[in-house]
Amino acid sequence: MNKITLMATAIGSVIVLVGCETGTTSGDTSPLTGAGSETFREKAESLVARMSAYEQMNMLVGPGYALQPDFSFGTNYEALTNVKNDIPGTVGYINGVYNESTGLDIAAVKLADGAAGVRIDPVRDGDSDTYYGTAFPVSTLLASTWNLDIQAAVGRAIGTEIKEYGLDFWLAPGLNIQRNPLNGRNFEYYSEDPLLSGMMAASAVNGAQSVGVGATVKHFVANNAETSRNFVNNIISPRALREIYMRGFEYAVAESNPWAVMTAMNQVNGHYSGQWRDLNTTVLRDEWGFDGLVMSDWWAGDGNYPEMIRSGNDLIESGGVALAYRYGEVDALQQLENAYESGELDEETIKSSAVRVLTQSLKTPSNQGYEFSSRPDLVAHAALSRTSASEGIILLKNDSDVLPIDRSSRIASFGINQVNTLKGGYGSGDVNAAYTVNILDGLAAQFTVDSELSALYQDHFSANKSETDFNGLSTIIECSEPPLTPLEIEDYVTGNDVAVISIGRYSMQGRDRANAEGDFLLSADESNLIEDVATAAHAQGKKVIVVLNVASIIEMESWQDNVDAIVLAYLPGQEAGNVIADVLSGEVNPSGKLTQSIPVAYADIPSASSFPGVDTDADGKVDTHYYNEGIYVGYRYYDTFDQPVSYPFGFGLSYTDFEYGSPLLVDNTLNSEGAQGKVSFSVDVTNIGGVAGKDIVQVYIAAPSGRLDKPAAELKAFAKTALLAPAEDQTLVFDVTAKWLSSFDPARNQWVVEPGLYRAYISKSSETDGVYPVTFSVTSEIVVDETTPGALSLPDTVGDFETVHND
Ligand code: BGC
Repeated sequence: MNKITLMATAIGSVIVLVGCETGTTSGDTSPLTGAGSETFREKAESLVARMSAYEQMNMLVGPGYALQPDFSFGTNYEALTNVKNDIPGTVGYINGVYNESTGLDIAAVKLADGAAGVRIDPVRDGDSDTYYGTAFPVSTLLASTWNLDIQAAVGRAIGTEIKEYGLDFWLAPGLNIQRNPLNGRNFEYYSEDPLLSGMMAASAVNGAQSVGVGATVKHFVANNAETSRNFVNNIISPRALREIYMRGFEYAVAESNPWAVMTAMNQVNGHYSGQWRDLNTTVLRDEWGFDGLVMSDWWAGDGNYPEMIRSGNDLIESGGVALAYRYGEVDALQQLENAYESGELDEETIKSSAVRVLTQSLKTPSNQGYEFSSRPDLVAHAALSRTSASEGIILLKNDSDVLPIDRSSRIASFGINQVNTLKGGYGSGDVNAAYTVNILDGLAAQFTVDSELSALYQDHFSANKSETDFNGLSTIIECSEPPLTPLEIEDYVTGNDVAVISIGRYSMQGRDRANAEGDFLLSADESNLIEDVATAAHAQGKKVIVVLNVASIIEMESWQDNVDAIVLAYLPGQEAGNVIADVLSGEVNPSGKLTQSIPVAYADIPSASSFPGVDTDADGKVDTHYYNEGIYVGYRYYDTFDQPVSYPFGFGLSYTDFEYGSPLLVDNTLNSEGAQGKVSFSVDVTNIGGVAGKDIVQVYIAAPSGRLDKPAAELKAFAKTALLAPAEDQTLVFDVTAKWLSSFDPARNQWVVEPGLYRAYISKSSETDGVYPVTFSVTSEIVVDETTPGALSLPDTVGDFETVHND
């Protein structure tokens, strides 16, 4: 066992020994052994007691963005305190402490993006080795697996890469609600539903933290659009905030104890997220018991850093001089020092934040003396990227069982996206991966692909692609569709057995998508392509399969009847082409289900009229965003108001069929145990088809009508079967706690389960028509939790702006 003794030092006459145990060797992925969190806190307290207020404040402010030379923003390497083994591509740091006179020697901590893997610089000057991260499927695709173990495995693999590349914190997972499909960062998030989002995030955190690195759940809270992301003021009722936008965070805090929470850029109800005490202290710490550190998003807020610290946002990122580019010469550290000297920021507040930051810093590989290898097992992780992605792929349509296609099939592969295949989204969530298998190569590895048509696409791509750098974070590659006449298309269709059309859509940080052709809608070229291929194929009795390699959903109603099968692959990571071919060939029986509803038209979306906000001061910029649909986000809206959708939340087909036995109420302790009670159900699921497959069973509960407005039904539990062979069955059991059954009553500041008869639909999707419910009763009201009166309230100037009610 190694022991690092940071220092033996004298304070007065007391000798203080500081040490952290490590028991790891290079390449070992087990968690670093060491003290439990209480002991880390005690150590942090004793160390902070030996620091000056200035040393403490230096830990509360990052040294500035991207100290690497290829970024254009501020660089301030001198401000970075005590970094050991710096890693090119690190996007932020927590300063360490080095003081010869007190003997303190705490290493700076290195923070790494992004959601779908680890993003560091893959090549280094004068070094022939490479440092690629594995590009895993984006979070939406991982959530579409509804498989918590897979998400945990991916989290663990990412954590291992962070640790083996010498970093300490993962700046993910993001779990903002997919309120509107046009949010440019939806791919980094899981779902329109808070339960699914929270459970996925908790699994990701548990996976990553199991190897001894920190995870950071973000962006707290309501970062649901990229338009004016640095300042937009989101007006959200306390009930919608708690039930929809914060509930997943609450779950993740309770079930995975993340080392960090990252506050959002945006304002909520008139307060910057990172400067709102209601959020960062009253709710997050006092109500939920979070004891980790809270950091800001990079350059978030209006530059009032003392307010940030006082709100409970302990760490200002990226800190340093980089802030100048937005707020003039505001230097965060200087501002804190001034505030301290003037008494505006008191010693106790600084100390509390310093203890919280240091408690986590001490746990990190950098402070545990971990000898990283720079050699994570990228081969094993590529395999995990492939299997995890293929488990999330959603089969939306499969008329006459056109899929899977036989390996002997000759494929006419259309669409520029087959060569311009997207592994992930752009921005901080992008990963510098060693390669991306494009769809064409993936298909060619498992089928015979028309080589003349492939060559045509490859040549067109080489000659016409454009590459745009996005802030040094990503390279955006775009390319038009090659011009193909209907006659040429017919020829290719004639010469092959089946047509596959790949459609791609990227999206990115900092920009929302548009309800326009080429984005939420098909472009004219794509519409024509689908039309021409379908006409030619159907005239010859051949089938057309569309693959959607998209960052988020697109409109489908206008074209889906023209094609025979639709495969929603989202952004599947670096093995993209292999993943898609695995599903088309039947190597993998698809078992993904939608984590967001697909509306018939953009106008049907409950936030269609409010997204992405309004420009109230006529300066040409959106500044205020009214969440006027309240709790009616996604399926909660469509199901309650009988608004038809193209595909419902929770929907996905398989190459086999599953039959459910009669669901049973196993137990109901709600009446005897109140807030500690739960209700349990079970159902038998049998594979009644011809191939092995997995199914996802969902429990939607309809509450009786009571005092509070309620959606028709809400997802309260789910489970995924094992891979069931034909005729095999499995009994799934679901528990719904009183806490998850409850709704927030803003008038009484309580989470309550109202009395009456509840109906539980054990269902294949959120569409529960024809599903016979199991009922259970709650005899008297259960108060599950008390919350802080007045917390999270709307600004006084806002009246009743919620326009959607179910009463
Ligand atoms: C993003 C965060 C990210 C951070 C560091 C910000 O612009 O919003 O999600 O972790 O940059 O790259």
